[in-house]
Amino acid sequence: MSRMIKLDQSGVQAAVDVLADGGLVAIPTETVYGLAADATNGEAVASIFAAKGRPHFNPLIAHVSDLDMAKRYVQFDAVSEALSHHFWPGPLTLVLPLLPASEGHNIHPLATAGLETLAVRMPQGAVRDIIRQFDRPISAPSANRSGRISPTSAEAVAEDLGERVDLILDAGACEVGLESTIVKVEGDALYLLRPGGLAAEEIEAFTGKPLLRLDQRAAIQAPGMLKSHYAPNAQMRLNVDEVHAGEALLAFGQTRVQGHENAVATLNLSESGNLREAAANLFDYMKKLDTYGAATIAVEPIPVSGLGEAITDRLARAAAPRD
Ligand code: TXA
Ligand code: MG
Repeated sequence: MSRMIKLDQSGVQAAVDVLADGGLVAIPTETVYGLAADATNGEAVASIFAAKGRPHFNPLIAHVSDLDMAKRYVQFDAVSEALSHHFWPGPLTLVLPLLPASEGHNIHPLATAGLETLAVRMPQGAVRDIIRQFDRPISAPSANRSGRISPTSAEAVAEDLGERVDLILDAGACEVGLESTIVKVEGDALYLLRPGGLAAEEIEAFTGKPLLRLDQRAAIQAPGMLKSHYAPNAQMRLNVDEVHAGEALLAFGQTRVQGHENAVATLNLSESGNLREAAANLFDYMKKLDTYGAATIAVEPIPVSGLGEAITDRLARAAAPRD
């Protein structure tokens, strides 16, 4: 077992020590647990890819403690800066042009997969103290093996990555439960590169502009949007209107689909139909239903507005054909 400790003051110090040694630390953010390394240390970043089995063309998000730190690495336009003032710290990632390396930034090219942009985010909570004390950005993808379900608890990290991580910081369950929303400003246009824990409607209300959705098949803009992802062992069957014998059921809201009494197990994302609660439970319940050994998890319909957009995106990837 890898070392697991609480994220208190001595936890912060232990994390900073491991990062300074080029090691890997699992960190609790408000979205999901991340697998963190020094973004300026090529070997450390390489060990993130190795631990996850992640393709090298898939760039990482750099986590910063404050806007000044971000500005040491990227160029902000006015809209992105306004978004950062309003929504940071929080579940919003901004993709911004990297400053030229000649201006002194030292983000390792492996962290950006060689792109001239950098995805930047300021997480909530005590992980910010780690970054502030470390005084440089940390790269952190979700702390799961590539293609698997993102972890929303320290135990889920330990189960999936085990010995591959030097230190796991435990701060209980993640509040949001879905990865950050990724946005890129290009000229006058705003693009949604990944729906996530900040509802697109909130960003649109703040900027007064539509958030343009990318064609799902043209996912080159966010190279990590591999189709099959978040996959439990069971197959997933979405938007069901009937449960088949032997299936597990991922329910939502108050009314049950036909045949629900046939399910080998049922978990309800939110009895009251609250999408925030559903988001926080999603990955945990997918993992839990998987432990019943059903060949298929049937999923009740979930509305696509607000956080439902990110929830249905993750479910679609979990249901996508696997190699
Ligand atoms: O909530 C989160 O964002 C979590 C926590 C740990 O912060 N992190 C996370 O990282 O979800 P990851 O690696 O699982 O997803 C990062 C996504 C990938 O789809 C990647 O392709 C995209 O961000 N990305 C990273 N850098 C990019 C860039 N320069 N341009 C476009 N997309 C980028
Ligand atoms: Mg991930």
